[in-house]
Amino acid sequence: MVDVILGLQWGDEGKGKIVDYFAHNYDVVARFQGGPNAGHTLYVDGKKIVLHQIPSGIFHEQKTNLIGNGVVLDAVTLKRECDNVAAFGVNYKKNLYISERAHLILPTHRAIDKASELSKGNEKIGSTLKGIGPAYMDKTGRNGLRVGNLLDKSFTTEYIKLRLKHQKLLDSFNFQEDISAWEEEFFEAIDFLRDFKIVNGEYFINEKIQQGQKVLAEGAQGSMLDVDFGTFPFVTSSNTISAGVCTGLGIAPQKIKEVFGVSKAYCTRVGSGPFPTELNDETGELIRKTGSEFGATTGRPRRCGWIDLVALQFACMVNGVTQIIMTKADILDNLDELKVCNAYNVNGEEKSFVPFQMNRVNIEPKYKSFEGWKTNISQLTDFEQLPQQMKTYIDYLNKFLKVPVKYISNGPGRDQIIVA
Ligand code: GDP
Ligand code: IMO
Ligand code: MG
Repeated sequence: MVDVILGLQWGDEGKGKIVDYFAHNYDVVARFQGGPNAGHTLYVDGKKIVLHQIPSGIFHEQKTNLIGNGVVLDAVTLKRECDNVAAFGVNYKKNLYISERAHLILPTHRAIDKASELSKGNEKIGSTLKGIGPAYMDKTGRNGLRVGNLLDKSFTTEYIKLRLKHQKLLDSFNFQEDISAWEEEFFEAIDFLRDFKIVNGEYFINEKIQQGQKVLAEGAQGSMLDVDFGTFPFVTSSNTISAGVCTGLGIAPQKIKEVFGVSKAYCTRVGSGPFPTELNDETGELIRKTGSEFGATTGRPRRCGWIDLVALQFACMVNGVTQIIMTKADILDNLDELKVCNAYNVNGEEKSFVPFQMNRVNIEPKYKSFEGWKTNISQLTDFEQLPQQMKTYIDYLNKFLKVPVKYISNGPGRDQIIVA
């Protein structure tokens, strides 16, 4: 049996905290897509830690963590992160497994990412510049090197061949960067990786499922950043939706049971691209400040706005979401009024669906207003204790989305979560 936790917006919904919270119910926690563009924040013993490559179940001693085939792996980031979690007493050598089919991010992938963004000028994606797009390009272009290739004698030769191809591409961008320091780190990290538990991920996980173990698949990014269904081209390069679990771990669709969709009580986006409910005013500024809305990977300020139910409904549809987890509800505690976008006015016509290319049309969000709850909810533990205004807000979401909000996160702490 497999459950999934994934983001319903443009990432940073609080997936890391939620995976850490739920991990005790599972035997295996597995990442199925994305790479170190992800930044998943957890609080362990009151201390903050941000995970980029390692699944967020790593702080649970008896749980197995798997980096699946759908992930693109930066060995340098992984090595650094292993040192970080080891400082918390985590025995990653025992609990962390890596699929041999996961593709490697090479130093030149990072350089190509940079060159590509520079060449786009004002139309840049706002990539995290971690080499994600170029690494997935090499996967679909059938050029990439995989974790399993590390064990081949010809690994360095294959690496040099690919680097030469990349150099031609970099030359075509007229881009120059000295990557020798990155390469040195890369080969050190590759040696470190050779000592890992590199497994055939699909047999590994299906055997566990057959033995009756419970698997939690951890999404990175968010549904609106999905390469097919997001706000293309301002997206990431993987399938972030629940279907990605099948291709990113080798799990059959009928094995998937619960799909937990995580959404903030408002909305944020980092990087470029359309964001209909964005607030370029003092309310947006207040949410950014109160919510500490700065990227966990790049430190960039996140764009903030009201919750967008048109986009959320779309995300629930493409993911088959069965339960919603609403995070950062406490950030709205001091607002007099809250707004919810329940339709788009597209070129003057009211629509209830996400258009083909959001930035080719003029979208005016239509809002419904709600009274703020003006109560500090961060210490509450019981749904019944929640202010009536908040229950009204949640009730509206439930009815609109036809998927229930089952959990409300009311602070970054490990146990700050209320069951509805
Ligand atoms: P992820 O990428 O989806 O894991 O989310 P990030 O870690 O990038 O960003 C979420 C941020 O919000 C982190 O700093 C979390 O510690 C914090 N956070 C998560 N849930 C809550 C919550 O319910 N309330 C508050 N105040 N902060 C939260
Ligand atoms: P988590 O898992 C928020 C955004 C980038 C950029 C676009 C493409 O922490 O939610 P990429 O580096 O993939 O080429 O960037 O996607 N992006 C994220 N935004 N959270 C993330 O991950 C993100 N990963 C990528 O800002 O707009
Ligand atoms: Mg994040």
